[in-house]
Amino acid sequence: MNEVLAQKRVALIAAARGAMDTAYAPYSGFHVGAALLFDDGAIITGANFENASYGLSLCAETVACSIAAHAGRRGGLLAVAVLGGKDGAVDAAISPCGRCRQVLNELAGLGRTDPLVLCVGANEVVEMPLSVLLPNAFGPANLA
Ligand code: THU
Repeated sequence: MNEVLAQKRVALIAAARGAMDTAYAPYSGFHVGAALLFDDGAIITGANFENASYGLSLCAETVACSIAAHAGRRGGLLAVAVLGGKDGAVDAAISPCGRCRQVLNELAGLGRTDPLVLCVGANEVVEMPLSVLLPNAFGPANLA
C-alpha cells in the first residue's frame, strides 16, 4: 500500500464519515460522505447536495472533486473513501455511481494515478482501484 495512504487510511475514512453529517438530502434521505486523499497527505471532503429538481442533485464524490479542483488540485489523487446510508445510518458498503466514477477519473487522470476506492460499510471496507470500477475510461489523456 502507498505510504501516505497507509498513514492516512483511518483519517480518510473518519473524514468521509464526518462529511456525511453535512449532507443535504431532504428528498432521498440518503446521506453520503466522501473524502479524497492526495499525495501530499491532504484530505478534501464532500457530501451530497440534493435539489428540488431531483435530477440536478450532486453526489458527495462530485462535490468533493469540485472543491478539490477549486482549491487548485490537478491530480495527485491517491484514494477515495465513500460511505452513506438512510438518515446517515451506514449499513452496506456503497460504491461511487457511474457519473462520479467519471468525475473522479478526470481528477485522477490529470496526475495519471489510479486511486484506491474504499467503499465503507458498517462491518467491512471493500477496496478496489478506480480502474476496476471504470475500465477503459475516457479521460484527459485522450484529448492530449
Ligand atoms: N449519492 C452519492 O452522493 N454518491 C453516490 O455515489 C451514489 C448516490 C447520493 C445521490 C443522492 O443524493 C442520494 O445519494 C440517493 O441517490
